[in-house]
Order: sequence, then C-alpha cells, then structure tokens
Amino acid sequence: MMTQDELKTLVGQAALRYVEPGSIVGVGTGSTVNKFIEALAGMKGQIAGAVSSSVASTERLHALGIKVFDASGVDDLAVYIDGADEIDHSGYMIKGGGAALTREKIVAAMSRKFVCIADDSKLVKTLGAFALPVEVIPMAARRITRQFAAIGGVVSLRMKGDAPLVTDNGQHILDVTGLKITDPLGFESAVNQWPGVVTVGVFAHQKANVCLLGTAAGVKTMAF
Ligand code: 5RP
Repeated sequence: MMTQDELKTLVGQAALRYVEPGSIVGVGTGSTVNKFIEALAGMKGQIAGAVSSSVASTERLHALGIKVFDASGVDDLAVYIDGADEIDHSGYMIKGGGAALTREKIVAAMSRKFVCIADDSKLVKTLGAFALPVEVIPMAARRITRQFAAIGGVVSLRMKGDAPLVTDNGQHILDVTGLKITDPLGFESAVNQWPGVVTVGVFAHQKANVCLLGTAAGVKTMAF
C-alpha cells in the first residue's frame, strides 16, 4: 500500500511529461506541487524557467536554481501544473487549501493546458465536502458571510495563530462548509459578482484539462 506522500511523488514526477523543452512552466502551490518542483529541478537545464502562483513556490523554485519570471511580463504558458483539494469527473475543482487560489487562477488563465496532479482521495462526485476557500477584502467579510448563510453555507475566517491569515495579496480567507456545488460554472460566476470577493476557490472556468491521479495501481490519466 502506497502512502499519500508516495502517491504525490508519483504524480509529481508523472507531470514532467507535459513540460515542453525550452518553455516557461506554470507552477502551482501545495505539497503535491512541491514534489513536482523537486522533479522539475532535474530538468532545469531544459526549460526557460517558471511562472509561480505563490511566494512559497517561488522560494522553493529559487532554492532549486529554477528561474522565476514575473507573470505580468509573460503572454501565455503552454502548461500549468497544480494540485487540487477536490476534483470531480468533469475536471472542475475546489482549490485554495494553501491560500494561493487567486494567483493560481491567474496563472491557470494564462495557460493553454491545466494539468492537475492529485492523490485519489481528492476525486469526488460533487464538489463541496472540502471547505470552500474564498479570498475576500476584509471589510466585506461580514456581508459575504451573510450571503453564504443565505445559501446554507457556514463560514469560518481562516486563522494563523491568533490572527487572521493574510494571503500573498494582503487579504483574508473564508472557509465555507455546508455547500453542495452541483453547478460549478454557475456558482463560480455568481459568487465572483459579490462585492468584496477577490476569488472563489471553485475552478470551473479555469478547470483542469487533464488530471494525473495517484492510485494504488499507479498513475491514472483523466482527460476532460
Ligand atoms: C493551494 C491549493 C493546492 O493546490 C491544494 O490545496 C492542494 O494542496 P496539496 O497538494 O497540499 O494537497 O489550491 O492554494
């Protein structure tokens, strides 16, 4: 029986086959992506560098000698490799467990292909069992909390120690339980319209094109 950590290593390495030589690679955030970054370091001489979705991934890429480009200076990317908190059978995802959802969505939008890497515990029928992360402007948090309550959501402000967690963008994260997201595209569009929402952690408009799922039988490739 493989551990979850071993499954993450497996899919992190498997993602290398989507990296185009000479290209700039879009790099996500999280423990699964950290395995990909380690694997990517083995071919750093064959890529131009990376665009990163978080300060944490940038630091990790730099430490391994991989050049990191500023996203604002790059037109588009061939591929974006990132993990997920949940992924369904259409490639729709919940992301943001690592609080990096806004930059992740930006880099995903820059990319022609989104390759999601995940262990098989992340595959779900319907999104929503994982508490949905939503990055918000702090002054709007109370109102947004009431808006979620009106649709059955229970909100908690993500903390770091005794203080609210502050994202790379200087904002807060609300984690919302009690939702069953049966229409990810419609849900994402609707919540994005709420004043003060920076990014909702449903990735439906920026869904995965491919998922490399780590299973006890090896890597299962799902294309959407
Ligand atoms: C970070 C994310 C991550 O991709 C997600 O939380 C999965 O992380 P991990 O690979 O550690 O399970 O969205 O904001």
